[in-house]
Amino acid sequence: MTIKAVRGVHDILPAEAGKWQRVESTARHVFEAYGYEEIRLPLFERTELFARGIGEATDIVQKEMYTFEDRGLESITLRPEATAGLLRAYIEHGLFVLPKPIRLYTMGSMFRYERPQAGRYRQFHQLDVEALGDDRASIDAEVIAMLVELFRRLDLAGRLQVEINSLGDEDPACRPRHRSELVRYLRANADRLCEECRERTERNPLRVLDCKKPECRPVLERAPALDAFLCAACSEHFAKTRDYLEAMGVRYVVSPRLVRGLDYYVRTTFELTTTELGAQNAVAGGGRYDGLIKLLGGPPDPGIGFAVGIERVVQLLPDEGPGAWQKRRPGIFLVPLGDEALKRLLPVATTLRARDLVVEIGHGQKKLRAELERANKLGVAYAVIVGDAELGRGEAIVREMKSGTQRTVPLADLVAELLVPGGRA
Ligand code: HAM
Repeated sequence: MTIKAVRGVHDILPAEAGKWQRVESTARHVFEAYGYEEIRLPLFERTELFARGIGEATDIVQKEMYTFEDRGLESITLRPEATAGLLRAYIEHGLFVLPKPIRLYTMGSMFRYERPQAGRYRQFHQLDVEALGDDRASIDAEVIAMLVELFRRLDLAGRLQVEINSLGDEDPACRPRHRSELVRYLRANADRLCEECRERTERNPLRVLDCKKPECRPVLERAPALDAFLCAACSEHFAKTRDYLEAMGVRYVVSPRLVRGLDYYVRTTFELTTTELGAQNAVAGGGRYDGLIKLLGGPPDPGIGFAVGIERVVQLLPDEGPGAWQKRRPGIFLVPLGDEALKRLLPVATTLRARDLVVEIGHGQKKLRAELERANKLGVAYAVIVGDAELGRGEAIVREMKSGTQRTVPLADLVAELLVPGGRA
């Protein structure tokens, strides 16, 4: 029996790789224009980092982590997101001594044991951005504006909506006051809520607001909304964030029920959503996490960031036909007929490739007709044919594939001939 890929993971085949390259290179471009520097992080960390960072009560930590004991009997987890690991590196390497805000980005695979469905995978990929050490609302607005700019450059901004909310903070006058009101209300209406909501009421009440089940909606729609409970400082921060967004012409809607699935958020949270991807409607999500760096043992630095789900972006991008990988397809096909000719042409291929040409070479076994058919399939501009006769005369035949016209070139001049403009693809 053949071995197939594990459920919930997927291959990115060459035909799709062009879109991935486009997303990643556009992201680098945009992030670097805003002063972000790349950081590359391990794929696994100590389990405790995520338990503490993302929150013991979250779905991610409770049921979605790939956790195992390594051979040193240490509990290890494949990263379900990048923020916790990035902050671990920030603290471990003392990056906080740099001038603030410290702007970092990273990209790569994340792992969550979720029920696979369209747009939801067990190994997926994120672009992740974090701005550390600055709590001003203008940073929140700038981070959101940069996210929108990324999608503008990908020609997708018009198909996405920016949703923002403020989750307040842990000041007793703020979110905790809302939490106790919310729990009281949810308990009072428990008989009209699903089992998961009843359980979340005790474990992670804010997340109850996120339940999409129709039977829960009537209760949840009348639940106490967080915005009425924000303390003065959080209200002001949110108002300022919106002001700056407006100053930058970023369109958004305020979604009071946007609560996010990770525990570390305070104040500004946001998502970029679409109606085109069914249930998995968030292309990106993020927010502020001012207490998290301290919680992980670092200085009391604030932070804000977001992650983009690359699979979901790629799904929105139109098929553009040949991707970058195909645009750089071979321009020259060297066809040695026999081993002596192969030995003569192999170094020619090396020289041309060193000059950045894409060169394909036949390895000498095939007949001329079969090789020319392959040259046609590859779509090369030129085929260079060297058989025993040509070798004996110190020559090569350069065939222009489109017209079929051929000319003879001294082997000694072959490289120069193929490099000159007009002499190659
Ligand atoms: P998140 O909302 O959990 O946030 O994930 C961000 C994005 O990753 C989602 O909007 C979605 O596009 C994509 N995503 C999440 N899970 C999956 C999956 N199973 N399959 C495919 N795509 C998925 C975070 O991860 C936070 N660390 C973001 C952040 C950074 N907040 C502050 N800084």
